[in-house]
Amino acid sequence: MTKIYVIGVGPGSPDYITPIARKVVQNAHLIIGSKRALSLFLEDIKGDILSLTSESIGEAIDYAVESAKIGKIVAILSTGDPGFAGLLRPVLNKTTDSVDVEVIPGISSIQICAARLNMCWDETDLFSFHEGVSYEKKMKLVKAVKEKRDIILLPDPKSFPPKEIARFLINNGISEETTAIVCENLTLPNEKIIIGNLKKILNLDFGPLCVMVVKGFHRIRKFLSCWNDEYVGL
Ligand SMILES: C[S@@+](CC[C@H](N)C(=O)[O-])C[C@H]1O[C@@H](n2cnc3c(N)ncnc32)[C@H](O)[C@@H]1O
Repeated sequence: MTKIYVIGVGPGSPDYITPIARKVVQNAHLIIGSKRALSLFLEDIKGDILSLTSESIGEAIDYAVESAKIGKIVAILSTGDPGFAGLLRPVLNKTTDSVDVEVIPGISSIQICAARLNMCWDETDLFSFHEGVSYEKKMKLVKAVKEKRDIILLPDPKSFPPKEIARFLINNGISEETTAIVCENLTLPNEKIIIGNLKKILNLDFGPLCVMVVKGFHRIRKFLSCWNDEYVGL
């Protein structure tokens, strides 16, 4: 059967790439990924490379299927974990049951965020605005905050960045004092964690790589003592 590997490559640092991800890449004839993802495997790649941009995903998946059909081992690299706002969805949408899709899980930016903040995330509401910012989804977020849920979310860097999320929540009746945290460039040398509230986040700009937490932060004191370098006060 035609087979494609979709491999999670972690949030950025090579320290968060799993040994099995490296093994599969080493054996692959064709490796598809963003420049950033490919650069994490320079020592492992022996096959051909196809560099991916957000515009070329569909075309690249078609090429992956064609290559797998003629017997090539194909690896598609996906930031973090492929199953959370990653490349698994477009791969599944573009393939049928005749293609065996095997996921090699990766460490998600969501997991790193929770780990940095000492958060248990088994009762957390997760949102991703990365691949769609509908009014319904935004209002689901408002509802979750009103219900005092702990929330971890991926903003959309262009149309729904942290400051717009803060603005939307405040405009929809959420207190501007609500705790909000933004974790930027996780695992990378310029990692930064900003702890504040919605009012504070309203005035800050962040780069495209960030995860946001709203409300319910149980171990804030321990966290602050570890990270006070990057601390922006409440
Ligand atoms: C296309 S989504 C992929 C998410 C990925 N599948 C995951 O599990 O982390 C890209 C978004 O993930 C988040 N992200 C990825 N790497 C990150 C990092 N190193 N630090 C903070 N956020 C990151 C950002 O919100 C970014 O816009």
